[in-house]
Amino acid sequence: MKEHIIGVFDSGVGGLTIMKEILFQIPEGKVIYLGDTARVPYGSRSREELIRFGEEICSFLINEGAEVIVAACNTSSANALPVLKEKFDLPFIGTIEPGAEAAVQATKNGKIGLIATEATVGSNAYNLAVEKILDRGILPQDEELAQDWVRGKKTIELVKAQACPLFVPLVEKGLFHSSEAREVAQGYLTEIQEAQVDTLILGCTHYPYLTEVIESVLGEEILLIDPAQSMVEELKEVLRTLDGQKGEGSLRNEEGRCFEERHRFEERHRFFVSGDPELFRQVGNTLLPGVISHVEKVNW
Ligand code: DGL
Repeated sequence: MKEHIIGVFDSGVGGLTIMKEILFQIPEGKVIYLGDTARVPYGSRSREELIRFGEEICSFLINEGAEVIVAACNTSSANALPVLKEKFDLPFIGTIEPGAEAAVQATKNGKIGLIATEATVGSNAYNLAVEKILDRGILPQDEELAQDWVRGKKTIELVKAQACPLFVPLVEKGLFHSSEAREVAQGYLTEIQEAQVDTLILGCTHYPYLTEVIESVLGEEILLIDPAQSMVEELKEVLRTLDGQKGEGSLRNEEGRCFEERHRFEERHRFFVSGDPELFRQVGNTLLPGVISHVEKVNW
């Protein structure tokens, strides 16, 4: 695969959980990451705000040379992505369908759960995506459940969606293993347990930081689905298509600066935040040790 510049954005450190998967599956990729830490959390924002933030961020990433944009934020994917896709002429990858598809394929009892931000839960995007995936004929790997579905039994459903607004501030502060995180998780996950789901979508990119805590509350019976792996598989497909289109010419921005040249001399990946660069560097490096050495502050 050719070298591509991949724009990734989130409200904060959450999207780094997707970036980790990008580094694993696409080692030749160059990432420009933007964490909108001055405006985190996104989970309590309105759809209009999320669209406006998304537009600002995409314009920035495109001007920095992004050839494809990964909306590594479920809240933006659920509320703003359709508008962003209309407005900007480049490929986008979102979180919702890849996460829903992975959950449909994995469930054995047909009961899928979701934990996400208030704005993602309120959008119903995951419920709709599960229905769409099934309508497309993508079925669980469990043969009995798949057969029941084909025979017309409506046995596969997103049965419980739980908003977890306190998780994001805990992760942004790096408090993944705190007693506070455990207490908060216990409160949020009781109804998920009562709903008897066997598969739980981590519908916010911040939540994989809390996997240990979530598993300690839920036990090992419930399978946690992180959409990252399926998202990056989809991203690879997009990059292969771009490979076919990419000529020998260099990518240039409005000032005529050559991105490929600039990236060659600078660090492989670039990180931008709208808030505190040092806090982002510290918390981010717990997930990606040694990857984030320098964080730049954006001035919109
Ligand atoms: N990490 C983001 C998501 O996946 C946003 C969380 C937030 O800022 O509330 O939804």
